[in-house]
Amino acid sequence: MLTGSAICAKPKSGRRNDSSGRPFPLLDHDVTLTIPSTGRYCPASGNKILSIELKSCVPQITLVTGIFNGMEEIIMGEKSPLIVLNNGVQMPVLGLGVFQSSPEQTTQAIVTAIADGYRLIDTAAAYLNERQVGEGIRRSGVDRSEIFVTTKLWMTDYGYEPALRAFDKSLRKLGLEYLDLYLLHWPVPTSFEATVESYRAAEELLSDGRTRAIGVSNFSEKHLENLRARSKVIPAVNQVELHPFFIQRELRAAHERRGIVTQAWSPIGGVHNRKRRTDPNAAASPLEHPLIVKLAAKYGKTPAQILLRWQIEHGLSAIPKSVRPERIRENIAIFDFALSKEDIAAIDALDTDARTGSNPDIVDSKTFPVKIED
Ligand SMILES: NC(=O)c1ccc[n+]([C@@H]2O[C@H](COP(=O)([O-])OP(=O)(O)OC[C@H]3O[C@@H](n4cnc5c(N)ncnc54)[C@H](OP(=O)(O)O)[C@@H]3O)[C@@H](O)[C@H]2O)c1
Repeated sequence: MLTGSAICAKPKSGRRNDSSGRPFPLLDHDVTLTIPSTGRYCPASGNKILSIELKSCVPQITLVTGIFNGMEEIIMGEKSPLIVLNNGVQMPVLGLGVFQSSPEQTTQAIVTAIADGYRLIDTAAAYLNERQVGEGIRRSGVDRSEIFVTTKLWMTDYGYEPALRAFDKSLRKLGLEYLDLYLLHWPVPTSFEATVESYRAAEELLSDGRTRAIGVSNFSEKHLENLRARSKVIPAVNQVELHPFFIQRELRAAHERRGIVTQAWSPIGGVHNRKRRTDPNAAASPLEHPLIVKLAAKYGKTPAQILLRWQIEHGLSAIPKSVRPERIRENIAIFDFALSKEDIAAIDALDTDARTGSNPDIVDSKTFPVKIED
């Protein structure tokens, strides 16, 4: 289900259609829309809305057009459409990631992103920028209640009591009174008992109303199964490496069966850039793949927009990272077009079934040398 409010665009000259000129997919999902009715005035342009037509509705995109003085214009192209988690909480499908955003860059990136319509921010204790994320949210001028904030528990704080203390520390750094989503950053297979104890702490934080939802990150289906057997709350989200070179088909299907939202990290292949810094022979980012470059030209979009739109077409949540204002804006401008079924399938076919990031079956706190200060 999708909810949202309408955005009215200023009419430009001529008739507008989607950039490819193709018909949009037919409505085949339950949707709840709040859109301005005909006869009312578009808040952005001040033009009277004469008619409204629902042009497309794939799981997370809505495009509604209106006729203004004979010109067709987009009156609703959601910037942050919402996805409903398994406990009823609504989460924007697209957010800003801040992994490796330096403390100096982070506050401004958050301010820029919120001004551009982002309403989901993904940080983590281990990113060492929670303070700057909180500062950015306060400086944005947008009410805290309108922003969906995710942070993550780091492995060195696993265990019931340590997890509760780490949560307090994260909230203090963020300067927030509650969180929207709290994730266990990685499973620790060699110490799964501590992983489970941490999740129990998260369950308590959830029942105390200190976070609106809880979930996990980098869990395989086996990890999810082990957790399910020893916990009460089904994770709302599993945030995992996911891009066209690693499409996680089976894990996504497992999430669907369990009611877990799949959230893609490195949705535009940032993990490839990192790998290339240490291994020049590593595969280039999907951003550079000839198919993605070709599709970008076909749709009049950028490679990053094609990759992000592909994530959205699959009903996934994605959290691209950038600290550059023009890219932050570019990465959210993906709700005014749709990829054809054939093009989605062609991108799916780039799958190598091989991850580029760390293997969650062999991760522990020694894998990543992170020291989290108070
Ligand atoms: N749970 C986990 O274990 C985990 C692991 C990794 C990441 N994450 C989360 O997922 C987020 C995103 O993943 P990621 O940071 O690995 O990778 P990503 O979002 O796929 O890619 C980020 C990289 O792409 C560049 N970039 C951004 N927009 C671009 C555009 N439009 N065109 C070309 N290049 C662009 C960025 O550089 P500039 O900043 O210079 O633009 C950065 O180098 C993270 O920030 C973090 O929040 C979670």
